Amino acid sequence: MNTQQFIPKILQKSTDNFSFTWKTPSNIALVKYWGKTDPQIPKNASISFTLSNSHTITTIDFTPKNDSDSQEEISFELFFEGKKKEDFKPKIAKFFDRIKAYCPYVLTYNMVISSENSFPHSSGIASSASGMSAIAMCLMSLEKSLTETEMKPDFINQKASFLARLGSGSASRSIEGPLVVWGTHPEIEESSDLFGVPFPYQVHEVFQNYQDAILLVDKGEKQVSSTVGHDLMHNHPFADQRFHQANENLTKISKILQHGDIDSFINLVESEALSLHAMMLTSNPYFILMKPNTLEIINAIWRYRNETGSKICFTLDAGANVHALYPQNESEKVLQFIEDELSSFCQKNQYICDVVGLGAVKL
Ligand code: PMV
Repeated sequence: MNTQQFIPKILQKSTDNFSFTWKTPSNIALVKYWGKTDPQIPKNASISFTLSNSHTITTIDFTPKNDSDSQEEISFELFFEGKKKEDFKPKIAKFFDRIKAYCPYVLTYNMVISSENSFPHSSGIASSASGMSAIAMCLMSLEKSLTETEMKPDFINQKASFLARLGSGSASRSIEGPLVVWGTHPEIEESSDLFGVPFPYQVHEVFQNYQDAILLVDKGEKQVSSTVGHDLMHNHPFADQRFHQANENLTKISKILQHGDIDSFINLVESEALSLHAMMLTSNPYFILMKPNTLEIINAIWRYRNETGSKICFTLDAGANVHALYPQNESEKVLQFIEDELSSFCQKNQYICDVVGLGAVKL
């Protein structure tokens, strides 16, 4: 695997201050990533829809260090929604430590990172995905400003995804859209364990502008972090079968997306969600992230689909919230169904209406 390509060669010395702001989205996996080896190498390939309304906006202000400042230590302040956030710092410090070989310029600046999310932190919506991808894009903007030769947009996106992955695996899929594959897979051209790539084939029109209503069953902090969950896939009795199943499902979903086979999509996506949670139920120690209302919503979706012939389906992240996925032409009816029958299972009746999007935007 060629990580050398991401080590910058000629960088200008600059005494200028820089400031960059990026808005980057969350994503929802259709084939799930669960299990990895160091450093953030996935055990199977995954694919996600990039979202748009669930996003992070991050600004990084870069001020060159003085000669008296240590050039060996990373220096940064972190503000989240306007407040200093000391408890988020260790995760970001670890991230900078992992990427400094690829972004040596981070050692030469004092950085102030200011971030805000459009959704609640640790709600099961992948806040680390949008958060890490936003930082990665800000770093790439700085690298572009410091690089004498031209940097191609494809390289910028690829390296941003590579950096974001080192912060949080699923963040590698939050740079571009509308569908991104991460993890080497024989049937996806150019796919890599190092970074996400846009799904390279023409997608059938039924999957254009796909809708995702995120039903917020539980907005509290998760009891088990995804880091712990990934770790529990080591020595898991079903690990090998699961990695094999996920790679096979990626082969299948690639065809489904191209042919517009929505019934097979429903079957595969729901099976993936339940397989992910089955891994949690059968880990040692075992754990359950679904809540009673998660199951109420799943059952209501199945009932509604049987009664109406709707193509709505559900998927789950590593949390209790339910993502209800449906084609755009069903929006009006499905939103009525959510309001009438699902919102009462959400905390404070809250849900987020999202739609598939195209990825990071510079502000
Ligand atoms: O990126 P992480 O380490 O938070 O893992 C995310 C794992 C899932 O969201 C459950 C699945 C996925 O592929 O996004």
